[in-house]
Amino acid sequence: MKIYVPMDSAAKALGADEVARAILQHAGARGLDVQMIRNGSYGMIWLEPLVEVDLGQGQGRQAYGPVTPADVPALLEGKLQSLGPVQEIPFLAGQTRLTFARCGVIDPLDLDDYEAHGGLVGVKRAIAMGARDILQEVVDSGLRGRGGAGFPTGIKWKTVADADAAQKYIVCNADEGDSGTFADRMIIEGDPFSLIEGMAIAGIGVGATRGYVYLRSEYPDAIRVLTDAVDIARARGLLGPNVLGSPHAFDIEVRTGAGAYVCGEETALLNSLEGKRGTVRAKPPLPALEGFMGKPTVVNNVISLATIPVIFEKGAGHYADFGLGRSRGTVTLQIAGNIKHGGLYETAFGVTLGQVVNEIGGGTASGRPVKAVQVGGPLGAYMPVEKFDTPIGYEEFDQQGGLIGHAGLVVFDDTADMLHMARFAMEFCAVESCGKCTPCRIGAVRGVETIDRIAQGDTAAIELLTDLCDTMRDGSLCALGGFTPYPVMSALTHFPDDFATQKEAAE
Ligand code: NAI
Ligand code: SF4
Repeated sequence: MKIYVPMDSAAKALGADEVARAILQHAGARGLDVQMIRNGSYGMIWLEPLVEVDLGQGQGRQAYGPVTPADVPALLEGKLQSLGPVQEIPFLAGQTRLTFARCGVIDPLDLDDYEAHGGLVGVKRAIAMGARDILQEVVDSGLRGRGGAGFPTGIKWKTVADADAAQKYIVCNADEGDSGTFADRMIIEGDPFSLIEGMAIAGIGVGATRGYVYLRSEYPDAIRVLTDAVDIARARGLLGPNVLGSPHAFDIEVRTGAGAYVCGEETALLNSLEGKRGTVRAKPPLPALEGFMGKPTVVNNVISLATIPVIFEKGAGHYADFGLGRSRGTVTLQIAGNIKHGGLYETAFGVTLGQVVNEIGGGTASGRPVKAVQVGGPLGAYMPVEKFDTPIGYEEFDQQGGLIGHAGLVVFDDTADMLHMARFAMEFCAVESCGKCTPCRIGAVRGVETIDRIAQGDTAAIELLTDLCDTMRDGSLCALGGFTPYPVMSALTHFPDDFATQKEAAE
């Protein structure tokens, strides 16, 4: 029998390695013929470690979870209660999995398994198409940058392709720093060849021969999996002087960051990649024209690049058919915080925030009413329940004073103190600021002090805080200082009682 136990870090944090060891031990002791496959996670974190058993009798893969080492004897005797076939679990069955179609299904480091599940179809088609058609296909797909800013990927690639330079680069931003986000890590650990294939297509499209993945040091498992996958891809000719026998050269190097949030900002990332201090560069020049080592560079997020293969496999039209307004395709929602069914949920843009929290996520884990959802990481706005009918879409969120960012959602119940959360946002900015510009470097420190004054009952400080947020928003050089006002002002606007209560208590 085949048994699948995830090697994804979230599953490992919940005991997957111990379960895998127990399965091998018990199977060995009982003389059972078990082939163990360490797959990626499907993203249903509350069911991890989620083990699948394939008896090979046409019954498919039966899911069990969460499994503990103590459950293993019953699991091997077929006496453990099954969740049924994994694809029929409602959380998974309700998704539109394009980018994450293989994640959880395949052995992440088996290139044949990858190919058997649609892998490499995209890059072969891209090679046959030629550079101009590759660029047009990406434009037609409507794909926008999944790192957060939502800039059209095809336009970015065209800018690099049209730049006149002997050397160009593809840089993958895998410095996933937003709180509550884990999509980049999950796909790297569960389906690393999709990222490699996406980068190879990007390289062929824009005429770049080298790619770098800037991967955060906090993801040791992802670093190991991706490094191994790059070696396998090179050995099998997906990377190298002739990508899959074509005249195109493309190779990838994995580089590790050192833990600074600001190095997720593309120009700070490029500085860090060049061995310099991770401070933000002024734009222009855009990295698309003067990026890594001063050369035209595509800087794309992991999910943007890992989505490229499916666009070329199924066609731009297929991808663009999903979505809402100018937000085409699927969004990989990462549902976290105080939530019953936390995990990764890939769906077409257009689902409402309320559906995500209440129907998909099942409401709070504590069972208490939801108070707020922070969407888009530590720089995202706190959305109150009154805004739950907002559809997930770039423009739709913008109109409501929010942002989707990297599509991470952190849910809070009614015990959350929003003044405290506003203070945390300013404190986070003060700690992570690169120090290059004054509104962020000094403003964030003053912001913490001003919120402390409000907490102590100083009414005048509210106007000062609003003024400070305007200055940070309009005067900061990058999104860290410029977007910190989102969580602060949304907390103040939507939850004034939390600011007033502290005042009254002090009076
Ligand atoms: P931006 O709007 O300045 O740029 C977006 C991208 O488009 C950049 O790569 C930029 O170089 C490119 N671009 C802009 N105009 C272009 C043109 N004419 N031709 C070619 N390329 C062009 O936004 P920025 O500062 O890069 O990113 C901000 C976003 O990052 C925020 O929305 C935030 O949500 C997100 N973010 C994500 C994090 C994560 O962990 N994934 C962490 C922190 C922030
Ligand atoms: Fe650096 Fe903050 Fe200015 Fe960004 S906003 S450049 S992080 S000081």
